[in-house]
Amino acid sequence: MVTEGAYDGRRLRQWLDGEARGFSRRDLMKLTAAVGAGTALAPDAAAAAPAPGGPIVKPLPPELFRVFGANAEMRWSAMDGQGYLVPVDRFFVRNHTRTPVIDAATWRLHVTGAGLRHGPVELTYADLRRLPAHTVTTPVECAGNGRSFFTTQQGETVSGTAWQLGAIGVARWRGVRLSTVLRHAGLTRHAVDVLPVGLDDNFVTGGVDLGPVRRPLPIRKALHDVLVAYEMNGQPLPPDHGFPVRLIVPHWIGIASIKWLGSIEVADEPLFSPWNTQFYRLFGPGFPAEGQPFDRQVVKSAFELDRDAQLPAGRPVRLRGRSWSASGRIRHVDVSTDGGGRWRRARPVGGSEGAAWQRWELDWRPEPGRHELLARATDVHGNTQPDVAVHNDLGYLFDAVVRHPVVVA
Ligand code: MTE
Repeated sequence: MVTEGAYDGRRLRQWLDGEARGFSRRDLMKLTAAVGAGTALAPDAAAAAPAPGGPIVKPLPPELFRVFGANAEMRWSAMDGQGYLVPVDRFFVRNHTRTPVIDAATWRLHVTGAGLRHGPVELTYADLRRLPAHTVTTPVECAGNGRSFFTTQQGETVSGTAWQLGAIGVARWRGVRLSTVLRHAGLTRHAVDVLPVGLDDNFVTGGVDLGPVRRPLPIRKALHDVLVAYEMNGQPLPPDHGFPVRLIVPHWIGIASIKWLGSIEVADEPLFSPWNTQFYRLFGPGFPAEGQPFDRQVVKSAFELDRDAQLPAGRPVRLRGRSWSASGRIRHVDVSTDGGGRWRRARPVGGSEGAAWQRWELDWRPEPGRHELLARATDVHGNTQPDVAVHNDLGYLFDAVVRHPVVVA
C-alpha cells in the first residue's frame, strides 16, 4: 500500500527540484507575498468568511452542530444512542467556499490527461450507476480535527478552524471503484498521478485565486481502494457531502476525498496542488521551512458527551465513547474518571465495521462535583495516545488524550 506520507514527501522533493507540475514556485511566491508564510496560509482559517445564501445547505441545529462559517462540526453528544454510522443530519461539513447546486441530469465526469490510452472520456450520472457498484464503511476526518486543544489544553497558538473532536464522521459509501472508472477510460502504463477536481467555487486566499479545490493521488493508490461515491448511508449523496459524486480515499486525510467531482486528470508526470504543498503540512519550529508532509491520521478518542455535560448524582452512569486510528483497529481503550489518577479498561461495544472506529462503554458511580474524564486508545500496531501532542503552526494531528470536564449534580 502507498502511504500518504511517503508519496507526499517524494512529490515535495520533486516539486522543489522543479519536476512536478501544477503549482509553480511563482504562484507560491505571490501567495506568500500576499498573506505571509506558513501559518497565514491555513485554508480553513480563510474559509470562515460568510458566503451569501449560506455556505451549507442542510439545517445546522445547535444541539447537533458547532458552526464555524462554511464549516460545521458534529457535537459528540449527538452520537449518544446512535448506531455505528453517523447519520447525515449530524455529519460534519468542511467547505472551502460553499456547497454548490449541481443538476445530476446535466453533470458529467470528465476523465482527461496524457495517461489515457484513447483520449478523454465523459461519463454521465447514469453511466456511473451502470458500472459495478462497491460499498465501503470508512471515516472522513479533517486533518485539523481536535485543533482547539492545542490552545485550550496545551496553551499553544495555532491557526485554522477551532475544531473540538467533531470533524470526523463514519458513513457507508456506495459507488464505483476509481480503478473501474479509470480502466473503463483506458490507462496507459505511463500514468503516474491522478488529479480529482471539485466543481465548487475557486478557493481565493490573500487575494490569490488558487483555482478549484484539488489534490493529486498516485496511480497506485487510485487503483487500490479509492471509491467514486454516489451514495452515503443508503441515500444519494446529500448536497453538502458532494452530490452528485465525490471521491472517498480510505485512510488518507479528509482533503483527499474531493467532493462535487467534476473531472479527473490522469497525468504521465508528477502533479502538485496547493493542497499538498502549502496546506496540510507540518510547519513551525522543528519542521523544515517547506513544511513536513504527514502521514495518515493519528489515534483519537471521544466521549459521547458535551464538554461540561451535567450528569445525575446518586446513580450509576454508563459512559460511552468511540476511538479510531487510521492505521488499523483499536486494541483497547483505557478510561480515567479522576483526571488521570486511576485507569480502567473500557468494554468494547459491537464490532468495528471496516475498522472505521470502535465503540466502547464504562460504568461509573460518580460523587457529586466536577470531574475530568479521559480516554486513551491503543491500536493493533501499538500506536497509543500521548499526554501531549506535537505542536505545529497549523494545528494538525492532535492525538493527545483530551481532558473532558463534566459536572455531577
Ligand atoms: N472537496 C471540495 N471540492 N471542496 C472542499 O472544500 N473539503 C475537503 C474534502 N473535500 C472539500 C472537498 C475537506 S478539507 C474535508 S475534511 C472533507 O471534504 C470533508 O467532507 P464532508 O464535508 O463531507 O464532511
